[in-house]
Amino acid sequence: MIISTKTKLLGLLGYPLGHSLSPIMHNTAFESLDLDKIYIPIEVLPENLETVVRGMAKMNFEGFNVTIPHKIEIMKYLDEIDEYAKCIGAVNTVVVHEGTLKGYNTDGMGFLKSFEESTGTKIHGKNVFILGSGGASRAISMTLALKKANKIYICNRTYERAVSLAEDINKQTGAESVAVKHEYDHMKKAIADCHVLINTTSVGMSPHIDSSPLDRELLTPSLTVCDAVYNPRKTRLLKDAEEMGCTTVEGLKMLVNQGAEAFEIWTGIKAPAELMLKAISK
Ligand SMILES: NC(=O)c1ccc[n+]([C@@H]2O[C@H](COP(=O)([O-])OP(=O)(O)OC[C@H]3O[C@@H](n4cnc5c(N)ncnc54)[C@H](OP(=O)(O)O)[C@@H]3O)[C@@H](O)[C@H]2O)c1
Repeated sequence: MIISTKTKLLGLLGYPLGHSLSPIMHNTAFESLDLDKIYIPIEVLPENLETVVRGMAKMNFEGFNVTIPHKIEIMKYLDEIDEYAKCIGAVNTVVVHEGTLKGYNTDGMGFLKSFEESTGTKIHGKNVFILGSGGASRAISMTLALKKANKIYICNRTYERAVSLAEDINKQTGAESVAVKHEYDHMKKAIADCHVLINTTSVGMSPHIDSSPLDRELLTPSLTVCDAVYNPRKTRLLKDAEEMGCTTVEGLKMLVNQGAEAFEIWTGIKAPAELMLKAISK
């Protein structure tokens, strides 16, 4: 492509970024629709976030994504935050318009779409067990609560964080959320009451591909098991779940769907999600 002063810039802010899949996903989409836009990875240390973001607002950026460790900190530097992102308490997508910045969160809806597409079912009325209480858990659990999941169990290594997230969900959405201790018997009892299990911890992520966040004996065939981890595409947890006869949902689909929603926020054009998935599946 030819880059000129007319080319609009988009990007990803995080640290470290490693081999992020977002640039290939978005650049493939821009190219396929003949859009004069380019998406670049930008590694930013926490102490430089404010300077970088203020500079981007004055350049030819149309927007950017935000990832670890900036999803919460970025909120301080935005002019406006979408109500749904406020409810989640984190931002992963920013629109730059005439020097002002507005934040959104597409992680939760990205997950929900991947769940609905992969299973052909809705989350409404389902009991869900979520492992983890970090940024991904917050986005997914709030979204599921707003979409009327019946009961949401939050289980985390650090129990206090699970309690705090469950309280936030109850306060902000009126849903029923309960914190679960990260101990075998407590987990077993809660999982037995659930239709869906979602891993939002980083356990199982490359290079620790043989680790699973859960004992495989806790998996039963009636569960739909989802993993937010997308590298590797088929995690140890998903392999165990398949062997136990569970339906499974891959993190790569969530990645594409959160990216597709960000693309649509920036461009107002329907994202070529199938093509984006193909681009990062190679
Ligand atoms: N597919 C997608 O589109 C997508 C989107 C966002 C994130 N993700 C993935 O989701 C994962 C989490 O991201 P995040 O942003 O939520 O990270 P985060 O905010 O740092 O949260 C990490 C979570 O993992 C738990 N954890 C970490 N190491 C653990 C261990 N050894 N044993 C048990 N629990 C452990 C933490 O528990 P403590 O509270 O006890 O520390 C915390 O709950 C990452 O793998 C990320 O790549 C995927």
